[in-house]
Amino acid sequence: MEKEKVVYITGGSKGIGQGIAQFLLQKDYRVAISGRQLSAVEQAAASMQGSQSRILCLQSDVRNPGNEKEAVTKIIDKWGRLDVLIANAGVGVFAPIEELTYDQWNQTIDTNLTGVFNSVKACVEEIKKVKGYIITIGSLAGINFSPKSTAYNASKFAIVGFSQALMLDLRQQDVKVTTIMPGSVTSHFNNHVPSPEDAWKIQPEDMGQIVYDLLMMNPRTLPSKIEVRPAKPLVKK
Ligand SMILES: NC(=O)c1ccc[n+]([C@@H]2O[C@H](COP(=O)([O-])OP(=O)(O)OC[C@H]3O[C@@H](n4cnc5c(N)ncnc54)[C@H](OP(=O)(O)O)[C@@H]3O)[C@@H](O)[C@H]2O)c1
Repeated sequence: MEKEKVVYITGGSKGIGQGIAQFLLQKDYRVAISGRQLSAVEQAAASMQGSQSRILCLQSDVRNPGNEKEAVTKIIDKWGRLDVLIANAGVGVFAPIEELTYDQWNQTIDTNLTGVFNSVKACVEEIKKVKGYIITIGSLAGINFSPKSTAYNASKFAIVGFSQALMLDLRQQDVKVTTIMPGSVTSHFNNHVPSPEDAWKIQPEDMGQIVYDLLMMNPRTLPSKIEVRPAKPLVKK
């Protein structure tokens, strides 16, 4: 059954998106992954284990609704269906309000909030046809405030509201919606360079496991909002 299913992951060129793509590929899903630069997406795909013919590489900037529509058209042209959207692409900019620029504010909101809207709008009619699933990658920053986080907190609080309202609309049409709110995950987020010191964090493949478990859940049950944190926090010396 999974062999037929098609998953579209925005921001699949690294970090959490790539980890989810890799996990689902090994569970026999067909995965379409996107990012702003096709070369980065193709490089990520080439590094994945599994059948390359089950990966579709797409260039799409989620801030551009036309890009997202085009991405979905390419998925349908290739595979004829779209079962799952993982709206994952996101950025983090952290600065006190005096230093946060208008460009940084706009990039954060346009990517993390409007980008998710653009992806959902582009996918929703196809996903309805197969009674599929939409998963948004929120953050614990969608429920917890931090200093220097006005833009990021605003975008992630909004994603919780967006996703829960979307869930109430689409559950009437047999489409499930879940927002996953992770804490620290090893990735390239905010220009981080992954290192062995990240071993205490959630790993990208763990995010893949969570997505897979959601997709496997019986049709009558919907975990609509999931908080995920490292089992053991880093103890700062
Ligand atoms: N890492 C954490 O601790 C953590 C915790 C909670 C939530 N999150 C959330 O997890 C999601 C993924 O982040 P990550 O940690 O995996 O960071 P990452 O390693 O920096 O990956 C971010 C991904 O998003 C893509 N992206 C960024 N802007 C984009 C745009 N405008 N259009 C299309 N793709 C875009 C990037 O691709 P290109 O740069 O190639 O375009 C990349 O594939 C984000 O929504 C983030 O807020 C992360």
